[in-house]
Amino acid sequence: MRVLLTGGAGFIGSHIALLLLQKGYDVVILDSFVNSSSKVTKAISNYLLTKSFNFNLNTITGDIRDKNLLEKIFNDSIIDNKPIQTVIHLAGLKSVSESLTNPLHYWDVNVCGAKNLIATMNEYKCYSIVFSSSATIYGLTDSVPIDENHQLSPINPYGRTKVAIENMFCDLYKSNMNSWKICSLRYFNPVGAHPSGMIGEDPIGIPSNLFPYISQVAVGRRDSLKVFGDDWDTDDGSGVRDYIHIMDLSEGHIKAIDFLNSKESCFEFINLGSGNGYSVFQIINQFELSTGMKIPFSIQKRRDGDVAKCFADIKKAKKLLGWVPKRSLEQICNDSWNWQRRNPHGYK
Ligand code: NAD
Ligand code: WQD
Repeated sequence: MRVLLTGGAGFIGSHIALLLLQKGYDVVILDSFVNSSSKVTKAISNYLLTKSFNFNLNTITGDIRDKNLLEKIFNDSIIDNKPIQTVIHLAGLKSVSESLTNPLHYWDVNVCGAKNLIATMNEYKCYSIVFSSSATIYGLTDSVPIDENHQLSPINPYGRTKVAIENMFCDLYKSNMNSWKICSLRYFNPVGAHPSGMIGEDPIGIPSNLFPYISQVAVGRRDSLKVFGDDWDTDDGSGVRDYIHIMDLSEGHIKAIDFLNSKESCFEFINLGSGNGYSVFQIINQFELSTGMKIPFSIQKRRDGDVAKCFADIKKAKKLLGWVPKRSLEQICNDSWNWQRRNPHGYK
């Protein structure tokens, strides 16, 4: 079965691509590489070659806003006699701060890109899509755990583009309820790396997220971690989040495809998180254990837009997808460190 994986060269996409290929899917990656390295697909192939795996991976460099290109990809797949049966749509921009300074660009790439993609799918009668939504759409809430019925009140343009795309899916589904199969996965905090240490997260510039930052402190690329507040209403005063191992998250996508394949039509929103909350100080502690090093840090004022606690209710994912996250915080930190120490400068 052929899957189109948009954004497949990115952090999340690269891990999903590897898993899909290991499961025997034929994968077409479409990525503009605006936020990823051209070396990613080589790393995926190298890993599979070391395991003597036969696989079918095709990487196309291009933009999801380029409708002619999308049509060519669908058309070529039909000519190949391997029509695209499912799309996993990850391509997009994800920086909260950048979305505040350049909102129209975020609406263009994320919303117009998604519209272009689903319009093309419609034309080619490919009605099955898994979409990467985000817990950021729940906005400023301390009412945890957060389930899928929680109200949506995103506080930044990035989050609003995700809600807009979910709304677009909703309208599309209602217009043709017999055909569309749509699963919007709302990720919490995907972190960690493939256990081989051959693929992982490699942000461009200074990381804004905790895990890549702390990994770069451990490997000596940054002096010290800034902890954004120790006066939150949590057990130790630092912010609590739901960190999910990237391999658990990737397995959730395979389950989502299986789920869509088992349906005539459907439209579901599903949280993907670990269901547990860990504080920044707990992460520092575990990282010190995993690396055997002291992580220098300083306490800073709270970061705008942060909340005290955010973690998922994952009952729906368990029930509908039969998916349960299996990896511990220890494994997350071990795998993050394994990737970072083997690749101190990422893919460069
Ligand atoms: P990423 O930036 O590593 O991956 C996104 C990929 O999309 C990159 O390879 C980038 O080059 C590509 N891309 C961007 N614009 C494109 C365009 N116009 N056309 C084609 N390709 C384009 O990000 P990620 O962390 O892997 O996130 C993947 C998806 O998951 C994103 O949609 C993001 O919003 C969503 N998400 C991420 C997180 C997270 O914490 N990482 C959490 C929730 C949701
Ligand atoms: C985690 C905790 C920080 C960095 C973000 C996006 C969200 C989603 C996932 C895409 C918080 C603290 C962080 C640092 C710190 N992405 N922290 N020092 O904010 O939960 O979610 O990524 O959809 O949209 O907002 O993740 O990793 O930035 O922060 O103390 O240098 O670590 O305050 O408590 P967040 P994060």
